[in-house]
Amino acid sequence: MSNKKPLISIILSAGAGTRMKSDIPKVLHKVLGESMLGWVIRTVEKFKPKKNIIVIGYKADSVKKDCEKSPYKNLDFAIQKKQLGSADALKAGITKVDSDFNGNILVLCGDTPLITEKTLTKLLTAHETTQNTVTILTAITGTPFSYGRIKRDATGNIGAIIEEKDASDEERNIQEINSGVYVFNFKALISAIDQVDCKNTKNEYYLTDAIKIIYQNSGKIGAYVTHDFSEILGINDKNALSTANQIKRTQINSDWIEKGVNIPFPDQVYIEASVKLGKDTTIQPGTTLKGDILIGKACDIGPNTFINDSIIKNNTKIKFSYVSKAKIGSDVKIGPFSHIRPDSKILDKAKVGNFTEIKNSIIGKGTKASHLSYIGDTELGNSVNIGAGTITCNYDGKNKFKTVIEDNCFIGSNTNLVAPVVIGKHSIIAAGSTINKNVPEKSLAIARSHQKNKPEWRKKNS
Ligand code: UD1
Ligand code: CA
Repeated sequence: MSNKKPLISIILSAGAGTRMKSDIPKVLHKVLGESMLGWVIRTVEKFKPKKNIIVIGYKADSVKKDCEKSPYKNLDFAIQKKQLGSADALKAGITKVDSDFNGNILVLCGDTPLITEKTLTKLLTAHETTQNTVTILTAITGTPFSYGRIKRDATGNIGAIIEEKDASDEERNIQEINSGVYVFNFKALISAIDQVDCKNTKNEYYLTDAIKIIYQNSGKIGAYVTHDFSEILGINDKNALSTANQIKRTQINSDWIEKGVNIPFPDQVYIEASVKLGKDTTIQPGTTLKGDILIGKACDIGPNTFINDSIIKNNTKIKFSYVSKAKIGSDVKIGPFSHIRPDSKILDKAKVGNFTEIKNSIIGKGTKASHLSYIGDTELGNSVNIGAGTITCNYDGKNKFKTVIEDNCFIGSNTNLVAPVVIGKHSIIAAGSTINKNVPEKSLAIARSHQKNKPEWRKKNS
């Protein structure tokens, strides 16, 4: 490591991305829950560059804000006032580099989110060992459409990169393309970039023209040719964004499968990069796992379940359900068709069943709310049984109130609990009651009108 030259990275991210047809800056479009730029930052940070410079311009404030959410604090921002092309963007980035910097500049694009640490390591190693002036990350593809083509001279050395719009028919047939990722010797870069002009079809300052200039100045130009074209996919439109999502999803799912998670139909589940899964857990089809999620071992999640930002311990089963910002213990059963809303804590061995909604509540150990209930702003003790159709009436139209049901209570079906109310432990609430007063422990509370039977009524009235 120590004999390596110092490294600074510059990520070009100032473009509007008009081909995305969106009001959102291109680099903020998401791939598996993380912005494209976020993915690039994440990968680049692994190399611990001396500085990581992000060139921003179009909607700079929102791009900066998104970057600041990232765990990486080693970021510096350069503003490109007008989007005059990638060379101009890099020039803006260079203003943040000390002029006496004696090292390499790794240039990346914020719209190339699938690039991996492995490939960048190979590119940087190739650059160091050959002592090139510039090393370009390239790939060979049968579908070079829209990429810059790598033009080599008679001896096979790279002489230029020709942009699609400026390419002749013959040049368009070249199958080696430019990924937009390069390592430059800093001194050579600053002299070349100043010579780039905008005499081309788009009237833009092309960074790719710096290659031709370095060639003309007898610089040493090399390439690291990656075999994985998908990794350098440049996302310019929403079709490419979908492709990137698919590729990333496949990668994430197969990584989990390798680590011992069961995903029988990996193309039918969506697992974001921030999710962590324990071994022998099964993720069934139709399941979406978003945000910060920690799922323990031997859980069975899905089919058709949505979970975001939640912690779930071992051996828990969740079917056909929606779980948001909740903490769920071990050996819990949820669903089918349960809705667990934020700030809910469901302790070990509890059961939340069909059409039951839980909000901001604690469900005690071994407690069951198996059918058709609303439990909101409630503390349920251990081993409580909530009968079908129980409603905690927590809202009077203005304020929310709390319900407490202590350990071992039995709440009969179709009970309304008008909060604030406390049901003491070991109590029973008779089915069909509307409870608006506290119930002392070990009591039976009945709050319903008496039944009257009128014998022979039907005979007399029909
Ligand atoms: C660029 C390369 C092309 C390469 C492809 C790889 C040039 C001229 N062409 O084309 O050879 O095959 O990437 O994906 O570089 N940007 C700015 N400011 C600008 C213009 C662009 O910051 O004024 C940024 C964009 O935000 C983007 C990156 O530079 O992240 C590349 O720009 P883009 O317009 O996407 O270039 P491509 O046409 O894809
Ligand atoms: Ca691009």
